[in-house]
Amino acid sequence: MSDEVLRQLDTLELKDQALNGSISGKSKKDVEHKTSIKPSNQLSSGLLGWYAACSSRELKEGTIHLFSMFNEPLVLYRGKDSQARCIKDLCPHRGASFLDGEVKNGELVCPYHGARFSSKGECTNLDRITCQHIVDTNYNNYAKKIHLYQYPCIERDGYIYIYYNGNAKTNLNEFEINSSLDDTLAESYGFLPSEYEFEEVVVDFKCDWARIIENHLDILHIFWVHGDTIPDKDVSRKVITSFNQAITRESRQIESKYNHKDPEKGEFITIKFIPPGRIMIYKGSPDTARYVQVLDHIPLAQNRSRVIVRHYRRFLKNKIFTKIFMFKNLQQRIFYKVFAEDYNILKTQTFNQQMGYIEKDNVKLLGEDKMVQYYWDWLQSALIKDNPWGLHPTTPTTNTVHLDRPMKYPPENPTLAIRNDQSIMLKLLIRALIPIGLLFLLI
Ligand code: FES
Ligand SMILES: [Fe+2]
Repeated sequence: MSDEVLRQLDTLELKDQALNGSISGKSKKDVEHKTSIKPSNQLSSGLLGWYAACSSRELKEGTIHLFSMFNEPLVLYRGKDSQARCIKDLCPHRGASFLDGEVKNGELVCPYHGARFSSKGECTNLDRITCQHIVDTNYNNYAKKIHLYQYPCIERDGYIYIYYNGNAKTNLNEFEINSSLDDTLAESYGFLPSEYEFEEVVVDFKCDWARIIENHLDILHIFWVHGDTIPDKDVSRKVITSFNQAITRESRQIESKYNHKDPEKGEFITIKFIPPGRIMIYKGSPDTARYVQVLDHIPLAQNRSRVIVRHYRRFLKNKIFTKIFMFKNLQQRIFYKVFAEDYNILKTQTFNQQMGYIEKDNVKLLGEDKMVQYYWDWLQSALIKDNPWGLHPTTPTTNTVHLDRPMKYPPENPTLAIRNDQSIMLKLLIRALIPIGLLFLLI
């Protein structure tokens, strides 16, 4: 584990726990026993563990980022020294949400009675929410009781990673961390993000989380669904092809290499699934690839999922050039279009799955679906082992306050895509007007 991660863990007092997923206060044997219960497919990680939950760019100082994991509402914010914190969205005074709360000088403020919480989660203005006699006689005891419920949280490579196990604690030292963050980081797979520039979009879907992962592991649909959108002559409906597939399963990843059947054409693409929620796509090897796509999948709730998509590139690194060519806007335009193309399929496929139609014998996985099959194998055993949807279950009578909130990003909310298109049009117009203006000046 790198120094930077250790330093951040140090401040969270979790360093001795997170190294290689070891557990504080337990013998190595206990740990080995716990982690040796692997699903049959060999991947050691289940559905609980480290997730890239938010991009660093999204988590602005002084703001509250509400999201959820497996139905449980959570909050991300920057506490003292800008350090990212992840807490359960529940004020320990009377159970209000921090929606409409604020962050002041690194302290989280509850919107109901104004309780303030330090970066460590302690209430710092108990005198505001309790009677004077408690303040006078029993202050310390009460201050300890009123404490935020937290999850371990580490910022790295421009992502906010959280360790999610569905059981937030007032004391981070009590966490049992059973998987190593290193196994999620791209650098552990030979890819150094610092050597690349990247474009990023975040997309929200009202559909099942696993269906999106499946979609990103599925190369067959790329030709058919995205053939007109992805700017690559080898990707089109006309050239739908099959590949020689070399697929491997190891303890921390499933990797599939797709080679063109024509040896002269070489490798088409490599896809890596890193549980629980990360996918990397590249050509060649990750350390030399010109272009690496990293997709992080966040299981917000049943029927609600978020994906952080990053395209890292070694080319066009000159910022002025990329500005002139509107590279960022044009890339975003492609991303938004690609995800919009998938959206109806994912929503209806989710329905079919929930109705029990996508069952063995009803659907037939074919040769090229091997990656999906391996993912299903892992998912099935991980769902049984971790039961993440059973940790914070909702019922038909549960208040839908969170589900009623609009989802933030395209394709569910097309505003950002429209704004991006308008920005492209405006920039094109300005570029067209400049030479005309210069001509006028010369005349
Ligand atoms: S519920 Fe948060 S301060 Fe009272
Ligand atoms: Fe797709």
